[in-house]
Amino acid sequence: MAEETGGPASENYRTPRPFDLGQMNSARVYDYLLGGKDNQEIDRDVAGQMLFSAPEIKTVAWFCRSFALKAVEMAADAGVRQFLDLGSGIPSSPNVHEVAKKIDPSARVVYVDYDPVVHAHCDALLAKPHDVTALLGDIRRPHEILGQLKNRTLIDLNEPVVITLIGVLHYVMDDEHPADIIAAFRDQLAPGSYLAITHGSLASAPEVLQVLAGNKDTSAQVSFRSAAQTETFLAGFELLEPGVVPVQQWLRPDLPETRMVMDAAIGRKP
Ligand SMILES: C[S@@+](CC[C@H](N)C(=O)[O-])C[C@H]1O[C@@H](n2cnc3c(N)ncnc32)[C@H](O)[C@@H]1O
Repeated sequence: MAEETGGPASENYRTPRPFDLGQMNSARVYDYLLGGKDNQEIDRDVAGQMLFSAPEIKTVAWFCRSFALKAVEMAADAGVRQFLDLGSGIPSSPNVHEVAKKIDPSARVVYVDYDPVVHAHCDALLAKPHDVTALLGDIRRPHEILGQLKNRTLIDLNEPVVITLIGVLHYVMDDEHPADIIAAFRDQLAPGSYLAITHGSLASAPEVLQVLAGNKDTSAQVSFRSAAQTETFLAGFELLEPGVVPVQQWLRPDLPETRMVMDAAIGRKP
């Protein structure tokens, strides 16, 4: 894992810096795709190129948000009261805490992102409700995040937790060991915890993969993976039906296929 093992050199180019408005930024590109206003011209240019080759990317982004909220609702209905949103992004509504607290106002929610701009937004917009906290943290250093959760008693790891990793793991390169990152969190989770993932798929159209390849050495560099590779990230969890499938299949059977494929999965720790 990054710091714990020295980390790959490319990490330095890809980690967002505070308020570096001259650089495109994956969180702000995503904010633009979701219709938000917290983005710069450079982010809109990158988003424009992506939309040119795959106009349905905006729709895919909304599918992913809907899937995340569905996973939160399902786990909350099953009695889970703690939520850890890793790579939470610039807040959009409804968000994890709004869904979770509707089911139980005492739900605890922690939003984590490594981008200082995202963190500032989360802190300002989300950290007001009781038991909702925004942390600046890099999932490539899971033990630092787990340490903060324990030391600040934000999450009780003796009780089940829902971890959402929505559109985040494909920003972790193979040499940063994404499976080890998940395992570090999984090993600390109580039985009955859930992991919900969406991950960019290699089954996406070649022109989509080509546009994304242009983001090398920026915070939007991605490593899309096969559904089989994504499934390995759920090792140690029981995979819920329908398994690792394009995100729309989790939502409704009649939703169209898209050229950018995002696989989605939910696992439950036995
Ligand atoms: C595509 S956005 C998705 C945001 C949100 N999960 C959603 O679905 O709306 C990806 C987010 O992951 C964050 N991110 C990427 N790599 C990260 C890392 N190593 N640690 C923490 N956050 C990370 C980015 O800053 C960005 O906010």
